[in-house]
Amino acid sequence: MIVSVTGKGGVGKTSLCAILLDELARCDYPGPVLAVDADPATTLHLALGLPQPEATVADVRETTPLDAQTVRNLPAGSTVSTYVRDKLRETGVVSRHHLRQMALDVMAMGQGEGPGCYCQINRALSLALGQVVSAYRLILIDNEAGVEHISRYRLPQADLLLVVVTPGQAAQAVGRRILATARQVGMGIEATWMVFNQTLSSSRPPTDEAGVMLVVPASLELIELELQGRPAVALPTDDPVRVALRPLVEGIRRCA
Ligand SMILES: Nc1ncnc2c1ncn2[C@@H]1O[C@H](COP(=O)(O)OP(=O)(O)OP(=O)(O)O)[C@@H](O)[C@H]1O
Ligand SMILES: [Mg+2]
Repeated sequence: MIVSVTGKGGVGKTSLCAILLDELARCDYPGPVLAVDADPATTLHLALGLPQPEATVADVRETTPLDAQTVRNLPAGSTVSTYVRDKLRETGVVSRHHLRQMALDVMAMGQGEGPGCYCQINRALSLALGQVVSAYRLILIDNEAGVEHISRYRLPQADLLLVVVTPGQAAQAVGRRILATARQVGMGIEATWMVFNQTLSSSRPPTDEAGVMLVVPASLELIELELQGRPAVALPTDDPVRVALRPLVEGIRRCA
């Protein structure tokens, strides 16, 4: 199952990805799970309390073949997929960790060289994802802010698109734009959930959105953790943010 998390900058994509993964681990979700940090400003590992990735897709893009056109001398018994998977592991681009008992692999896209277009590094990530997709029960993609990653067509499909918005108008406008762009580019999306994050009791959810709406409250504990430099997964088990994410956890478990 592929779950892709999108939204405007700072709405909580990365924090929610980390907490969602931790909630799945708490429910003994059968791994391995792949967490993809598809933001060039790599931070998902911080929210998960994991070390900085040894290498990123950007680091190995020039030196590691990622598709059938560039793989030469395929070893006997290997397929292009298994070969590329092994290379991504050997180079430290895919690293194995554990969240509680759940095996969790992490892969970060990293930053392209110099200023300008990210098309090449996005393409490299698409290729790498295409090779590893069958090895995982769940792939969770923490995207960079905004719409561009959708128009760059990083993955042509997602089983679930999570569009994170906050009470501000701008975040909701970006959320709508993301949905419209995904439709325009013909991205295959099985289901869309809006996650209305950082809500206060007075916040009114957007009314014009299709799909399921998940309301996640603003959490002083999460802000406190951030200020202390601690990971989002250190959030207490009874925190309302975790509780709010449980329908999503159940939805993902049902697909396992
Ligand atoms: N429910 C919440 N309650 C309180 N603070 C929150 C909540 N969700 C996220 N935050 C805080 O919002 C800030 C931004 O969160 P985060 O980095 O997860 O957003 P993002 O969407 O991934 O940002 P970016 O677009 O830069 O990748 C962080 O300080 C985080 O602790
Ligand atoms: Mg982020």
